[in-house]
Amino acid sequence: MKALVLSGGAGTRLRPITHTYAKQLVPVANKPVLFYGLEAIAEAGISEVGIVVGDTAPEIRRAVGDGSAFGLDVTYIQQSAPLGLAHAVLIAREFLGDEDFVMYLGDNFIVGGIADLVDEFRGSRPDAQILLTKVADPTAFGVAELDISGKVVALEEKPAAPRSDLALVGVFLFTSAVHEAVRGIELSARGELEITDALQWLIDHGRDVRSTTISGYWKDTGNVIDMLEVNRAVLEGIGGRVEGSVDEASEIIGQVTIEAGAEIRGSRIVGPVVIGANTRIAGSYVGPSTSIASDCRIESSEIEFSIVLTGATIQGVRRIESSLIGRNVEVTPATGVPAAHRLVLGDHSKVRISS
Ligand code: DAU
Repeated sequence: MKALVLSGGAGTRLRPITHTYAKQLVPVANKPVLFYGLEAIAEAGISEVGIVVGDTAPEIRRAVGDGSAFGLDVTYIQQSAPLGLAHAVLIAREFLGDEDFVMYLGDNFIVGGIADLVDEFRGSRPDAQILLTKVADPTAFGVAELDISGKVVALEEKPAAPRSDLALVGVFLFTSAVHEAVRGIELSARGELEITDALQWLIDHGRDVRSTTISGYWKDTGNVIDMLEVNRAVLEGIGGRVEGSVDEASEIIGQVTIEAGAEIRGSRIVGPVVIGANTRIAGSYVGPSTSIASDCRIESSEIEFSIVLTGATIQGVRRIESSLIGRNVEVTPATGVPAAHRLVLGDHSKVRISS
C-alpha cells in the first residue's frame, strides 16, 4: 500500500496566517501540521509516499527532504496548477501503479492517527473508504449524504444548501478503481476535478464506497480559535523536556519543553508550553497552552493560550491572550505616543485591541 499526500495549492487559496508560505507547514505545538500526517502514515506501516506539490514546492521539499527522518521514502509529484484533488490522483497514476493507497490532505490534522483505519481497509478492501465528521459549517467542505442504513448515497463539494452536516475529512482510502473514476469525470463549475465527483462516479457505477465517522479533526480554515484549540490539545499530550538554559530566577511549572539554545531569564513559564530553539524569554510570563517557535524574543511581556511563529519579537506588552502571532512580527509599545496605537499589519490581519 502507498500514500499520496497533497501539499500543493496556490497562494491565492491560502488563509490569513499562511499567505506567505505553505499552509501545510502551519505549526501545531511547534511542528508543521504536515509532519503529523507523515508520522501517521509511517505509523500505519506505509513507507512509499508520493507528495503532490505546487507553487510552494521548495518549502515543502526543504521541510520534508527525502522523508528518511520519518522512516519514509518520498517521491515528489509536481502539479502544474491546483486543479483539484482528483487531478492530483490523475497525475500520480505512474507513482501509484495499481496499488491500494491512502490519500492524505497535507493541511488536515487527524487526532489518533490512521493506523486502525488503514488496517480496516486492508481487511475489507472496498473500492473507496472515506472519513466523515460533523461540522458546524458544512458549506466549507465536501458533504456526504447517507441513507438510513448508513450507506453513502451522494456527495457534493461545498454545497450552498448542504444535505447533511457530515463533512469529508481529508483522508481517503482507494483501490485502483479510483483511476477510472478520475478519468471519467469533468471539471466542476469552479474549474477543478473534484474528489467528490470521483466518489460519486464510483457510487453511480455500483462500486463499494464506505464511510467511517470520526471526531477529533482539524484543518487550517483560517479560524484562529480552532487552531489554538488543536494546539492546546496536542500540547497536553507532550511531556516536558528542558534542553535550553533556565536561570535561577525563573520558575518552570508543569509540562514545559524548552529546546536547545533557548534561554529563559527571570521568567515564569506555566505549561503545557513549548519554546523553540534559540528563543529568548526574559522578565516575562508564558501561560498554559502556548507554543513559541524558534528564534523569538519575548521580553517584559505576558502571553498565554497563543501561538507565536518563528522570529517574532514581543517586548513590553502587558497581556497577550488567544492570539496568533506570525513570522518575524514585532509587537512593542508605542513610546511617546500616549493612548495611540501604531500598527503595521499585513493583508488580512485581525487585531483586537482594548481601547
Ligand atoms: O479538508 C477537507 C476538505 O478538503 C474536504 O471536505 C473537501 O471535500 C475537499 O475538496 C477539500 O476541500 P478544500 O477546498 O478545503 O481543499 P484545499 O484546496 O484546502 O486542498 C486540500 C489539500 O490538498 C491542501 O493541502 C492543498 C492540496 N491540494 C489541493 C488542490 C485543490 C493539492 O495538492 N492540489 C490541488 O489541486
